Amino acid sequence: MTAEAWFETEEFLSGLLCPPDPDLARALHVSEQADLPAINISPLQGKQVSFLAKMVGARRILEVGSLAGYSALWLAKTLPQDGCMVTIENNPLHAVIAADNIKAAGFDDRVEVRLGNASEQLALLVAEKVEPFDFFFIDADEHNNVTYFESCLQLSRPGSVIVFDNVVRSGEVRNLGTSNGAVRATQRLLELVGGSDRVDGVVFQTVGKRGHDGMLAVRIC
Ligand SMILES: C[S@@+](CC[C@H](N)C(=O)[O-])C[C@H]1O[C@@H](n2cnc3c(N)ncnc32)[C@H](O)[C@@H]1O
Repeated sequence: MTAEAWFETEEFLSGLLCPPDPDLARALHVSEQADLPAINISPLQGKQVSFLAKMVGARRILEVGSLAGYSALWLAKTLPQDGCMVTIENNPLHAVIAADNIKAAGFDDRVEVRLGNASEQLALLVAEKVEPFDFFFIDADEHNNVTYFESCLQLSRPGSVIVFDNVVRSGEVRNLGTSNGAVRATQRLLELVGGSDRVDGVVFQTVGKRGHDGMLAVRIC
């Protein structure tokens, strides 16, 4: 199959399974107008991640990497009325735009955008001894994913699920001699998950608008 066929197949599936949503469309439009990088997850991936959050009945969600709030909105829409979400972003412009998109969609009562470096913000949440989160979506600087994983373990409970985006990278993940630091971090993360009896994990490979990639879903035992 060609990349064009992947793209068209994803468009077809999104057309059937991801009904138009003005809040999500607005977030993408604002992001484009502000010249933010178009590195948000695709609509079908948004549905996949929010579907997983719904399956675990997530009431408390933590995201790393807000960008313009697109994936945050997908996730916020799965929250019950008394649910809450924290999304962490270190770029001040991205954080302002994400907060604005979240407010415009009416979720600012449930979703907090925390501006700052994710490692520091996660450490703060651990120090604050916050109630465990049910679902995590990690979509920022992959070379720090092992640190994020360790923090998420401290912020979770048995049954919580952590999803890491971009763990396949066109199959580069199987290249054990890679000099790419992000891929090496993913390899280390996969080794940790595979070798742990505290967690269980699986990778969902994806093809589509974002090429060949995948998400690692980790469940705390
Ligand atoms: C791939 S984008 C997130 C896309 C978003 N999850 C979506 O699908 O709509 C990654 C974001 O993570 C942010 N980021 C990168 N490194 C970070 C760090 N160390 N701490 C917090 N945010 C970071 C970037 O500024 C960027 O906005």
